[in-house]
Amino acid sequence: MKKILVTGGLGFIGSHTVVELQNAGFEVVIIDDLSNSSLEVLKGIEDITNKKPEFENLDLKDKSKVITFFRTHHDISGVIHFAASKAVGESVEKPLLYYENNLNTLIYILKEVSGLETSNFIFSSSCTVYGQADEMPITEKAPVKPAESPYGNTKQIGEEIIRDTCKVMPHMNAIALRYFNPIGAHPSAKIGELPIGVPQNLVPYITQTAAGLRDCLSVFGDDYPTPDGTCIRDYIHVVDLAKAHVVALQRLLERKNNSNYETFNIGTGVGSSVLEVIKSFEKVSGQSLNYKMAPRRAGDVIEAFAHTNKANTVLGWKAQSTLDEAMQSAWDWEKHIRNL
Ligand SMILES: NC(=O)c1ccc[n+]([C@@H]2O[C@H](COP(=O)([O-])OP(=O)(O)OC[C@H]3O[C@@H](n4cnc5c(N)ncnc54)[C@H](O)[C@@H]3O)[C@@H](O)[C@H]2O)c1
Repeated sequence: MKKILVTGGLGFIGSHTVVELQNAGFEVVIIDDLSNSSLEVLKGIEDITNKKPEFENLDLKDKSKVITFFRTHHDISGVIHFAASKAVGESVEKPLLYYENNLNTLIYILKEVSGLETSNFIFSSSCTVYGQADEMPITEKAPVKPAESPYGNTKQIGEEIIRDTCKVMPHMNAIALRYFNPIGAHPSAKIGELPIGVPQNLVPYITQTAAGLRDCLSVFGDDYPTPDGTCIRDYIHVVDLAKAHVVALQRLLERKNNSNYETFNIGTGVGSSVLEVIKSFEKVSGQSLNYKMAPRRAGDVIEAFAHTNKANTVLGWKAQSTLDEAMQSAWDWEKHIRNL
């Protein structure tokens, strides 16, 4: 049984990926400092898979602890690196915190991973690297645009650090997965997204409004050049996204990769407007949502949805869930954590 290190494995995407890894027969060790997660998540993972992953409460900014971890875990076959800070607005306020947490941790881990005999590394990147792309859907060949925020910049620089490392270390094998907009929760409603404070993303804001935690959802901008005037994004079910990591890892373990550094868009290929997401929520929940139109928000791009051809044909992965299924799972999760 191959052992995989999942950093940030108690977070939103990490926890769903740990479930899929364990379901696929991998042994998992999680590193997380609980800065944006809770130990409860371990219990949820165990309930779903009947297996408790190994867990280390460790801050990856502590270089000596990272070194010690790898010294005591010689048998790691692959690393999936989720751990990072991810709030775009906060990154504008606290850029150094973001550069330190997102880049130092990456460098410390890469140093250790590159010292392993076989090194297989998967990085959480984002469609934010494309900014407002010139053409829809967005292919992996679309140019990387200047980042709109320090957070976005950490993803661009992170990709460059990995690419440069792979260039001089042929035994290193890495894949950067550029996620579009992950939403939803595990269908069991035992794990899901746990935003701290006011959610920055649309779907948790919708479900919290419906659950009575927020008064009203503000739709930022209804005068964009889109069919209904609201922004368009590619919403991907988090379980589909988690499965993409297992497929990417298997690609590296089986040496099916075409080069030792690859990038893939991970999205559905379907763009949905904010109003379409609200309608989907109202349909699956059977209730109407309290929302109002508000001015545009700085930094929002008009539309972003993925060209999925490379992921479908080269990686061999395709999103399966519909927007309605993802919204249903997000609502089931919200109801579960609010005891509704
Ligand atoms: N959620 C999204 O919309 C989205 C989109 C694109 C990319 N990403 C990227 O995917 C990754 C996972 O995102 P998520 O939504 O699951 O976020 P999350 O905050 O739920 O998970 C990140 C986890 O990393 C942990 N962590 C942070 N800093 C750490 C450190 N120094 N040491 C150890 N653990 C640390 C946190 O406690 C948390 O559990 C991140 O790299 C994020 O930037 C997320």
